Order: sequence, then structure tokens, then C-alpha cells
Amino acid sequence: MKRCLGYILMTAMACAMMTYYFMNPQISSYSFRLNIISEPSVNQDIPWWREVLCKGTDQQGARMLELPWLQRDVEPPESDSNIFLVETACKTTPSFRVWCAIESWSRPLTSQVWYVMTSLTVNDTDGLVSRLKEQYSNLRVVGADVEKIFEGTGLHDLFSSRKWIMKAKWPAVKLSDLIRVAILWRWGGFYTDTDTVCIKDVSPLRNIISFSNNKRNHISNGAFQFKHHHKFLELLMEVQTKRFKNPQQPASWASLGPEAVSTVAKKLCNITDWSNLPGSKGDPVECGDLTLLPPKYLLPLDWTQNKRLFAKGSGEYFFSKFNSTYVIHLFSALTRNKKLHIGENSIYEVAAKTFCPVTFKHATADSDSF
Ligand SMILES: *[C@@H]1O[C@H](CO)[C@@H](O)[C@H](O)[C@H]1NC(C)=O
Ligand SMILES: *[C@@H]1O[C@H](CO)[C@@H](O)[C@H](O)[C@H]1NC(C)=O
Ligand SMILES: *[C@@H]1O[C@H](CO)[C@@H](O)[C@H](O)[C@H]1NC(C)=O
Repeated sequence: MKRCLGYILMTAMACAMMTYYFMNPQISSYSFRLNIISEPSVNQDIPWWREVLCKGTDQQGARMLELPWLQRDVEPPESDSNIFLVETACKTTPSFRVWCAIESWSRPLTSQVWYVMTSLTVNDTDGLVSRLKEQYSNLRVVGADVEKIFEGTGLHDLFSSRKWIMKAKWPAVKLSDLIRVAILWRWGGFYTDTDTVCIKDVSPLRNIISFSNNKRNHISNGAFQFKHHHKFLELLMEVQTKRFKNPQQPASWASLGPEAVSTVAKKLCNITDWSNLPGSKGDPVECGDLTLLPPKYLLPLDWTQNKRLFAKGSGEYFFSKFNSTYVIHLFSALTRNKKLHIGENSIYEVAAKTFCPVTFKHATADSDSF
């Protein structure tokens, strides 16, 4: 009986892997690779996570800058004034939108900004990276030994189990959901996604996370601030690890991200149901040393309003509309194919022109859109 069950399971797994292989052309090269990397790595020079994440990404180019490594060459202070942005897909050439985000977070000069890249090199062929580093002395672009970042954190077992690669459809997304927690647990500070524009200095914000809509029934993991070793981060690592033990859950896009942070926020606020929240909708909810912010601060437009970001004329009254806002989120998964056209006065155009002036000028030097 046992053997029979085992046989069925193996067949099912083989089937699933085959289906997965054929349905994911970009990922299929990983699937092939998985068999190899589940053995002890033969090539000692290339860590196993790079073999998976960086497979097929082009590392050659005219002017690639070698990056200093986080922890090995440079160590962030344990400090509330760190801001971290992370690139987990091993890309060497981030888009202008990503550089615009990085510039906007660097612009207030009050925080040390860390752009952490799994690629270990960055493409500076057009000189934008050098230009930004020159302009913003508080910006550090660094490579990361991902394995080392997880070492000694509550996510170490999950990371080294390799399940986040083996079982996840989107390894770069899963890694991103995990590594932001490990990084903040280690050093503390602000984490933010790269599809954002920072329009106000966030340095006064402490131990905060945001609701993702005005109904206040979801929490976003796109931007948050915690001091290092904060209870929220410790619980979040536990919840993420548990979720990977349940074979149903890691399949969903949100399982280690918004769903996991919502679970932890409820727990720390001692709430079983979001409809029991105290206070009015526009007010922050205080739960000990955790504050849940209403969306106007970090997510004034929710994802259903993403079309407005690039719509003609939507940037009118920008400064009064967003006068209490710190961050505008661009929902890159939904707006990737939209463009900023100069002179259309969209929300993104006003934001980019004002809050990432160097990138804006660079991106529009030979083009009237980006
Ligand atoms: C590097 O960036 C330039 C544009 O600045 C681009 O044309 C080139 O394809 C990039 N190289 C790689 C390897 O991505
Ligand atoms: C949580 O709330 C319940 C009632 O809603 C209360 O009985 C319990 O003492 C609370 N626990 C904490 C830790 O505040
Ligand atoms: C933002 O604008 C509204 C309406 O114009 C005003 O009531 C509010 O005080 C302003 N908030 C800030 C932080 O300036």
C-alpha cells in the first residue's frame, strides 16, 4: 500500500514538473537545473542560488561595475535611517523607473539608501549609475551574498531548504518577499519596493506598515519600517516558514507577502477580524510599538486605480491631492507597458520630474517618453 502511494505521488510530481516545464518557458531552464543543484554543488565558485536566479541573465556588457558586497565589503549600521531596495531577479540593467525610485528615496539625504542587487554587477554603459552616485552621496549600490544575509535569521532553514525555489512558481518574487524581512531584522530601517516614488522624507516614520485599501482589510508588504529585531519581523519569519510547510499555500503569489504580513498584524493587534478595528478610517491604528497606517501615507491609490498613474491630466493638483503622502506606488505588474509621455501631466510625470530629476532628465534626453 505504502509503495503504491509512493508511486502515485512520484508520478504526480513528475507530471506536475513536466506541466510546469512546458508552461513556463523562461523558468524551464531552472527546472532542468534543479536536479543538478539539489546535489551538493560541484562548482564551489558559484553559489547554488545564483545558478538558479542568474541563469540566462546576460552578465556581459560594455561597462559593468563590480559592486561591493553587503556584509563582506560594507556593513550597514543597525539604524532606523537605513532605506533598502532590493533586486532579486539578477538583473544588471534596472529600468529608468527603478532608478527613478532609487533617486527619489535618496533625495531627502536624511537616510542611507542601499540598493541591494543579486547580480553583483551593474550596467553603467549610459553613465546613469555613476551620475546618481555622484549626486547622492548617501546612495550605496551593493551586491549581496544572499545566503549570508539569511544566516542566523529565522528564515535560514527555509532559505537553505531551497523550497522557495523548488516549489515556487516565481522564485525571484518569493526571494524578494523573504529577503526584505531578513534584511530589516538584521539592520533595521525602511524597506520599499522599487516601483515607487518617494515624495516626502520618511525618516519620522517608525515601526509602521500600511493598509492597502480604505476598507482596511488588507495589509501591504510593499513598504514598511521596523527597528532591527522587531517582534513583527520575528513573527513574520515564523509565519513565512510555516506557510512553506503547507504545500497548498506557497503556490499563491501573495502567500509570503501580503497574506503573511496581514496574519502577523492581526496577531500583534489582537484582532481576529478586520471589521472590529477601533478608530476611524483615516486614523493610524496603534498596537503597542506597531502602527498600522491608513493608505493615504504609503499607498494613496490602490491597485484598482493604477490606470490613473499614467493618465493624461491626472497630475493636476498633485501637491494638494498628495499633501500627506510619503510614497506613490506604481504597481509595476499592471503598469509595465504604460509610458510616461512628456507634457501629458500624468501623476507619474509630475512625480518623476520633481522627485527624480536626474533620472528624468537622463531618460528624456533622447526620447519624449519612458
Ligand atoms: C547595458 O545598458 C545599455 C544601455 O545603457 C544597453 O544597451 C545594453 O544592452 C545593456 N547591457 C546589458 C548586458 O544588459
Ligand atoms: C485579546 O483580546 C481578547 C478579547 O478580544 C482579550 O480577552 C485578550 O485578553 C486580548 N489579549 C491581549 C494580549 O491583549
Ligand atoms: C492637506 O490638505 C487638506 C485639504 O486641503 C488639509 O485639510 C490638510 O490639513 C493638509 N495636510 C497637510 C499635512 O498639509
